Amino acid sequence: MKLSIVIPTYNERENLPILVKEIGKVLRDLEFELIIVDDDSPDKTWKLAEELKEDYPFIKVLRRIGKRDLSTAVLDGFKKAKGDVLAVMDADLQHPPEKLISMYRRIEEGADIVVGSRYVAGGEIEEWSAIRKLYSKFATLLAHIFLPSTRAVKDPMSGFFMCKRKVIERAELNPIGYKILLEVLAKGSYSRVEEEPITFRKREKGKSSLNATVQIKYLRHLLRISWETKEIHRVLKFAAVGLFGVFVNLGILWMLTEIAGFHYLLSAIFSIEASIISNFVMNDIWTFRDRKKEGFVEWIRRMVKFNIVSLPSFPMQMIVMGALKEIFGVYYLLAALIGIFFVFVWNFVANTLWTWKEV
Ligand code: GDD
Ligand code: MN
Repeated sequence: MKLSIVIPTYNERENLPILVKEIGKVLRDLEFELIIVDDDSPDKTWKLAEELKEDYPFIKVLRRIGKRDLSTAVLDGFKKAKGDVLAVMDADLQHPPEKLISMYRRIEEGADIVVGSRYVAGGEIEEWSAIRKLYSKFATLLAHIFLPSTRAVKDPMSGFFMCKRKVIERAELNPIGYKILLEVLAKGSYSRVEEEPITFRKREKGKSSLNATVQIKYLRHLLRISWETKEIHRVLKFAAVGLFGVFVNLGILWMLTEIAGFHYLLSAIFSIEASIISNFVMNDIWTFRDRKKEGFVEWIRRMVKFNIVSLPSFPMQMIVMGALKEIFGVYYLLAALIGIFFVFVWNFVANTLWTWKEV
């Protein structure tokens, strides 16, 4: 068996026959199987799938009773799959079946994972509102921040992808995960990832069964993978370095002002820069130890980036602090702390995506 396509379904009676027919046409020259994993749909999609077997012998049906979950459905489909290459796609025709063939070719030519991507040149989304697009972009940005391994793709949220079996063979994909592709990218073993542009089509029939709770699920999933892959440690290290920097800053401010007798604003300039440099050095040898290019020139380049990134911290801290104190009457030390928190978030995001972006 060359290719196994896993299709999770929930109430897709109207779409399934069209999809199956199209796939049969597109892949007529390939040895493949189509594993339909249905969670006992009330519209009896599983029964229809069984009936379709007669005309389309490549179909296998897995009817799960008492479960209602997209990602475990996909994982159960993987377990049943016999192919050397595994694919996942939706049943509702939003994923274009004709792309299966070009995705499979890319795998043959050496890619380990191929993602059907809406966000590369040539890809698009037919129907979504501006707000849903924005959500999706934001979710993608979060993935890029917290899971650097997803940076290899512009659309890590896609539900349409293909990979060699060996990519996931030894990975422990978490069944309470939500986006299977994130699991694969974070935990799989692979070296070449490619994206095939797709048009995410309009859903003509039936309705989406993913609701608002998926956004919460997504955030939890992201944190969980970040924890499992130890990526969260980076945030904690960055925070520890930052905390130390606060002491460097205040210590030098105090020394220059009290002992050297500088004006306190002049001292502040030196002490802030001193803390920026000490933060940089510690982050470079500790927090982002695994993410840098060798050489002095590269080191200087990162140092300059870190300084640039740190620049907006001054006005940011001032504005947040000033606004909280002047408008809301927050105690100034607490206001400073909240300001520091904002600066922290900004600094982490900008540095992980820019200064130390190499994965
Ligand atoms: N077995 C099973 N169990 N299948 C399910 C379940 C479930 O609980 N919920 C949904 N499905 C199936 C649907 O029948 C469909 O084939 C596919 O999963 C996707 O569900 P939709 O409800 O159409 O999701 P969507 O269009 O909102 O989301 C799609 O696009 C996202 C990208 O923005 C999915 O592909 C997501 O995985 C993807 O992240
Ligand atoms: Mn859909």
